[in-house]
Parts: sequence; C-alpha cells; structure tokens
Amino acid sequence: MRKPTFQALLAGAALTLLTGMIHAETVIKFSHVVAENTPKGQGALMFKKLAEERLPGKVKVEVYPNSQLFGDGKEMEALLLGDVQLIAPSLSKFDRYTNQIQVFDLPFLFNDITAIHRFQNGPTGTAILKSMTKKGLIGLGYWDNGMKQLSAKKPLRMPADAKGMKFRIQASDILEAQFKAIGAVPQKLAFAEVYSALETGVVDGAENPWSNAYSQKFYEVQPYFTESNHGYLGYMVVANSKFWEELPADVRSVLEKTLAEVTAEVNKSAGVFSEGDRKKIKDSGKTEILALTAEQRAAWQSAMKPVLDQFTPKIGKEIVDAAIAANKP
Ligand code: LMR
Repeated sequence: MRKPTFQALLAGAALTLLTGMIHAETVIKFSHVVAENTPKGQGALMFKKLAEERLPGKVKVEVYPNSQLFGDGKEMEALLLGDVQLIAPSLSKFDRYTNQIQVFDLPFLFNDITAIHRFQNGPTGTAILKSMTKKGLIGLGYWDNGMKQLSAKKPLRMPADAKGMKFRIQASDILEAQFKAIGAVPQKLAFAEVYSALETGVVDGAENPWSNAYSQKFYEVQPYFTESNHGYLGYMVVANSKFWEELPADVRSVLEKTLAEVTAEVNKSAGVFSEGDRKKIKDSGKTEILALTAEQRAAWQSAMKPVLDQFTPKIGKEIVDAAIAANKP
C-alpha cells in the first residue's frame, strides 16, 4: 500500500478538526444564588434536563446553585466575560444596566402576580427583555419567585415600627429609597451573606419572598414576619448576547422553545412554592406571621408612595403607566 502523502495527512487532520468543531458540544454553565428547592432552582434543573434530552451531544448544561460558582455582584460580570452562559438574577440586580427594569422594584405598584404577568408579556415587558443588548445582555424570559414579605427581630405592623432598624436589601437604589422612606436604614448585601447578617445582628430585618425565607432558613433568625406583599421578586433569565447570537440557529431555536416551556412551568410552580413554604414557616413555630389590617397596609403604601414619584422620571413615565395599566384585566 502506498504511504499517504504529507498533504493527504494534513487534509485528514484538518477534516477531523473541522468535524470535531461542527459536533463540538456547547457547554452552558447556569449559575444562580438560591437553593435548588426554589422556583429558580427547579427551573434551572428542568432546563438542563430538557435541553440535554433534546440536543444530545450538542448541548451540556451545568447548573451551579447557591452562589457556588458566582455570587451577586460577580455573576453579571462573569456572564459578560463568557465565564458563565446563563444566569437569572433578580430584576433588582440590573440597575447598573438599565433604568427601565427598575419598574419592578417600585413598592405597591402591581395588584398581584397576574397583573405582573400581563405587564411582562405585553409590549413594554417584552421590549425590556431586549433593552440591554447594546450592553451585551439578552433577556430570554421572566421567572417568578413571589411577593416579598418583611421580616424583623420585632413585630412590624406600622411603618413607624421600622424606624431606625437596619434592613438588608439587594443592590437596588429603589429598595434603598423604599426603606429610607419609612425611616429605616437599608444595607446592600449579597444574598449569600444574609443569613449570617441576620443571625449576628449586622442587620435587624429583611424583605424576602416565602420561598427564599424558607429555603435559606431566615425564619430561624427572624422572630417576626409581616405579610406585607409590598413588592415583587422575579428574575430575568439572561445570556451573553454574542454567545446567544452565535449559537447554531437550530440549537438556539430548540433552547428558546425549551426556555419558554420552562418559564411557563416555573411561573406555575412559584405560587405553589410560596403557599407551601409560607405554611412550612408557620408550622415551624420558630416565627410569628403577622397579617396586616387594610388600614395598616394602606399606611405602608402611603409611606412608600414618595419612592414612586421619585423614580418615575428615571424609569420613564410611559413604562410606569404601562405597569399601572396592567392592573386592569
Ligand atoms: C436576593 O438577593 O434577595 C434575591 O435576589 C436572591 C434570589 O436570587 O432570589
């Protein structure tokens, strides 16, 4: 048999390399900061399962929960650097990237989760998903966690009860203004630091949806919860826009369809988590859940109202108006 020429060997090697590149598996690292037994934690795992089933050998999804890979403050940078491919930060954590998204942080803006979905799925909410593409981020969907509840080391029934108390907040100027409006002292802290900050008294209170309060055991170190439902905690699933655009079109299309399905499931399950985790917290006997009377709730609403007036020009009046309009079916 004739020996292959050098050129033939080179061509063979190039072909092998090319085939390898064509069939190279895309690894999607999905990093987040919450526990697996939460709407976001379950959503990330469901996305992994479905994406790998539907794109065998083409896509591998690695999920890193609990700030294991990147915590708050680092995950967005890591996404832009390509060290992670998918993240789902809470909407409060985008304030360095877009003003529009801050609408979700305004206290007492939406009547309920249904109104929030109407806004998210309407023209304004859909446009907000694409509002950060110039900065390298593309929004792929909104995931719910739930409505936030106040918790503290003493009972909070009226806004004056919170005066002078230190509250942990996410990195959001609106949330900062919200606590200042009731005479409290807000402190921006990464999610991974909240339990110990509450336990050691670095802060006196916090605001969380039931699912985070349960899965992070905040109820063990907060003797009182106030069922205030004063604001929304939801997420935007985001990718690095260059990474996303450069995926093979067929792969991207399967991933987008899969994400849409997962989004629907997460948003269905979030209400179930909220209810179930609220009950588990109540049944633990470690904390007391206080209900607000209509008058008490109105007092919180009116104390926080200046935040709406202060931030509407920055967010855009048309966006805030669209959010308010979503309260009407
Ligand atoms: C928080 O920091 O309180 C939340 O954004 C954590 C999360 O991802 O639910």
